[in-house]
Amino acid sequence: MKRMLSGIKPTGQLHLGNYIGALRNFVKYQDEYEMYAFIANLHCITIYQDPQTLKKNLRDCAALYLACGLDPNKAVIFQQSDVRAVSQLGWIMACNSYQGELNRQTQYKDKIAKGETGITVGLYAYPTLMASDILIYNSDYVPVGEDQKQHVELARDIAVRFNNRYGETFVVPEPVIAQVGARIMDLQDPTRKMSKSDNSDKGCIYLLDDPKRARKKIMSAVTDSVGIVQFDKENQPGVANLLQILSSLTQEPIDSIVKRFEGKGYGDFKKEVADAVEAELIKIQTEYNRILSEGILESVLKEGAEKANRTAEKTLRKVQKKIGVEIF
Ligand code: TYM
Repeated sequence: MKRMLSGIKPTGQLHLGNYIGALRNFVKYQDEYEMYAFIANLHCITIYQDPQTLKKNLRDCAALYLACGLDPNKAVIFQQSDVRAVSQLGWIMACNSYQGELNRQTQYKDKIAKGETGITVGLYAYPTLMASDILIYNSDYVPVGEDQKQHVELARDIAVRFNNRYGETFVVPEPVIAQVGARIMDLQDPTRKMSKSDNSDKGCIYLLDDPKRARKKIMSAVTDSVGIVQFDKENQPGVANLLQILSSLTQEPIDSIVKRFEGKGYGDFKKEVADAVEAELIKIQTEYNRILSEGILESVLKEGAEKANRTAEKTLRKVQKKIGVEIF
C-alpha cells in the first residue's frame, strides 16, 4: 500500500479552507493509502504563540481530525514533536538545502515583501523541517492545498539531491492537489486565500464557529454586480469561491450547480451554500463534542506516536549511516 502523509499547523482555529483543501482529503484517502496525519505543532512556533492558546488549539486540532472522520484504526495520527527524529533529520535537511531555495519560498517572500520584521530563523528554515516530515516517513504522496505545493516541491528537490549524493535513500514524494477547493478564498476579499491569521474574521469560517454565525458569513460574502451564477474566477472571484465551497461539500460538479441556478439570483445561491456549510459544521461539531467527552485523544496520539517513531527511527538511522556521522 502506498503511503500518504500530511499535516496542519494550528496557529489558530482550523477553518473551512483547511477542511476542504486538506483534512477532508486525508479522510477520503485513508482507505486507499497508508495515511500518516499529524499535527504540525513545531511549525506553529515559528511565530510566537501564547502557550495556553497554543495548547488549546492543538487539542482542538486533534479532536477535529477525529471529528472530521480520521479513524485511528486506519490512519496514524500523532503530534510532530512526539517524533524527535524529525527535528534531527530537519537539521540534516537544512544542511542539504540552499539559502537561495529558501529565499524563493513564496510564504517567506511575501512576508519580506510586506515589510514584516522579527522573522525568526525557524520561519525561514520552516520548509526544511517540512521536508523532514515528508521524507522521514517515506511518503509517496502529500495531499495539500495549493499554497503548500511549493514546499512539497522543495522536499522533492532535497530528496533527489540527497539520493544523488549519498545513494538511493528517500522516496521522492508527489503533491496531491484537489481539482476543486485547493484554494478557498476569504469571503470578504475573494482575491486572498482564506487564512487563520491575516484576514478579517467575517471572511473566514472556522470549523468551530457557531453554525448560525457561519451562515451569516456566507450570506454576507462579497460577490459582484454581474448577477449570474457562473464559474469565472477572474471576473467573479466571490461567486467562483462559493461555487467551489458548495461543490466540495456536496460533491455536485460545478457545471451542474451552475445549470441549476440559471436565471436565479445570488440570494438563492448563497442560501444553498449557507445550508451546506451550516449542516457540515453541525455534523463536525457534534462529533467534536462527543470525542472530547470520551477523553480518547491522549491514547490516540500516544499510539500514533509509537507507530510514527518506529518508521522515523529507521529512516534516520539509515540517513546517518549514509552521511557518515555514525562511527559504528
Ligand atoms: P497549514 O496549517 O497552513 O494548512 C494546512 C492545510 O490546509 C491547506 N489550506 C488550504 N486549502 C485550501 N484553501 C485554503 N484557503 C487553505 N488554507 C490552508 C494547506 O494547503 C495545507 O494543506 N506547512 C504546513 C503544515 C505541514 C505539512 C508538513 C503539510 C508541516 N509539515 C508536511 C504537509 C506535509 C502548513 O502550514 O499548513
